[in-house]
Amino acid sequence: MKPLIAGNWKMNGLQAARCEIEALIRKFAGSAPDDRDVLICPPATLLANFASEYADEAIQIGAQDCHAETSGAHTGDISAEMLADAGAAYVIVGHSERRADHGETDQVVMSKAQAVLRAGLTPIICVGETREQREAGKALDVVGTQLAGSLPKTGEEIVVAYEPVWAIGTGLTPTLEDIGEMHDFLRSKTPVNTRLLYGGSVKPGNAKEILAVTNVNGALVGGASLKADDFYPIVQAST
Ligand code: G3P
Repeated sequence: MKPLIAGNWKMNGLQAARCEIEALIRKFAGSAPDDRDVLICPPATLLANFASEYADEAIQIGAQDCHAETSGAHTGDISAEMLADAGAAYVIVGHSERRADHGETDQVVMSKAQAVLRAGLTPIICVGETREQREAGKALDVVGTQLAGSLPKTGEEIVVAYEPVWAIGTGLTPTLEDIGEMHDFLRSKTPVNTRLLYGGSVKPGNAKEILAVTNVNGALVGGASLKADDFYPIVQAST
């Protein structure tokens, strides 16, 4: 399965952002690697610019969230159709920061994922347990419930990202055995064409071993996607 290495810039990226994405493109020497997909999900304010300026380049552009409706009285929101119009190829939905900051339930995440498919884009649906849940031995149960509630039943391509909440931005990662156990579980619960990403403190120093775990088909990278010098070696580690 072709790996997908995705960068989630979260709410980061002002002037420096353009330099970093251009530096990243230069590292690919202007041509897209054909053995893996590379994606950057910048803040919505940069998305349309990036998608039009870098349309023929080595990377694809995605969004970090969308509204479930096509249009309407939803001040401040952006629909999946608008993101498609702006040039997005993927949309992250159900990130744990959205689940926590905006109270998004599995049902909301499912509606958003359906909206992404409706717009002809690919959803990256995030799941993951908290530290307390892992320590209580409930990680598989929690993730199983999230999968059942958040994944649309569809034959179309979806991507699932396993991001243990306690590993995000902390420098902590699960053991390779724990990642492998979770990804085997995800594989058993998702359609065969679903790429399964790992996310949570992926860095140049640990990317190769994480990406080598069975049923890990790529990575969703936060902090280390903000600098081309960090993100490029992670992309390279995916071969
Ligand atoms: O979506 C990616 C993210 O939550 C992981 O963040 O900074 O731990 O790589 P980070």
